[in-house]
Amino acid sequence: MAGPKKENPMNHFLDIHKTDPAALRAMIETAGQIKRARADRPKGAPDDDQPLAGRMVALIFEKPSTRTRVSFDVGVRQMGGQSMVLSGSDMQLGHGETIADTARVLSRYVDLIMIRTFDESVLHEMAEYADVPVINGLTDRTHPCQIMADVLTYEEHRGPIKGKKVVWAGDGNNVCASFLHAAGQFGFDLTFTGPAQLDPEEEFVGLARKAGSTVVIERDAARAVEGADLVVADTWVSMHDSQSSKERRHNMLRPYQVNAELMAKARPDALFMHCLPAHREEEVTSEVMDGPHSVIWDEAENRLHAQKAVMRWCLGV
Ligand code: CP
Ligand code: NVA
Repeated sequence: MAGPKKENPMNHFLDIHKTDPAALRAMIETAGQIKRARADRPKGAPDDDQPLAGRMVALIFEKPSTRTRVSFDVGVRQMGGQSMVLSGSDMQLGHGETIADTARVLSRYVDLIMIRTFDESVLHEMAEYADVPVINGLTDRTHPCQIMADVLTYEEHRGPIKGKKVVWAGDGNNVCASFLHAAGQFGFDLTFTGPAQLDPEEEFVGLARKAGSTVVIERDAARAVEGADLVVADTWVSMHDSQSSKERRHNMLRPYQVNAELMAKARPDALFMHCLPAHREEEVTSEVMDGPHSVIWDEAENRLHAQKAVMRWCLGV
């Protein structure tokens, strides 16, 4: 029993399709401004803007992380706030305390909660019972903060993403799901190329189509990338996938590796993205990762700027 629920009109950042498109667009603009302002300041000088001064942010991880952990932590500090990184297994949460009770208690200490977890029901319960905004730092089903950084990265290199063709190659996983949500909200088209067993969820394909995006499922990777403005890959075995499925997944996904031959079929100015961590020579070759189409390091950096904008929106500061 979770106990009574509460009225909850807060700005939680749970998923891209659940966030107002105008708010999403404003966050991308804010993220760009934050990035430029920081680049323009004298080296080593503190940021002028300290909107999180006096605020405390809890960063909860039930799965490993490098980028999400460091970029949120650094982002909070650069904005004048303080953060604490908590591992789910070290908390009572990992030893039987309910999510609802954890949410109620944390809300008495901190101003904002970011959580990376397995089943998305944990995220939703946390948001339902917290008195402070909650941010999705990845679940088995979605990864919205990543795609905010990806939209920012695309647009700073190539201008508006609206109307562009994005090709997702590989597993129709959590990151792919958030790309589909973003397709609907930002108005781009998405072609999925991968084996039928790993198609993205029909519900998410339907949502993107309903929002006006063209979503194509194409089994032939070479045909899929024709005319692509952006090609995206991700690991073939996600953190929530069993290690025993690794060989079967690799066998199914091998034809969808993003290599130089495949990239050559996209537009000459196409970009390549990967949320990282990458498995070089599996889902993508080093030649592509380190090659002229790749913007993966900007993409990783932009997690910092995009998430600052997300946190500001959540807190209304
Ligand atoms: N892309 C991403 O979320 O990376 P981490 O797992 O390192 O946080
Ligand atoms: N799909 C990957 C993304 C990691 C950032 C996973 O869930 O493991």
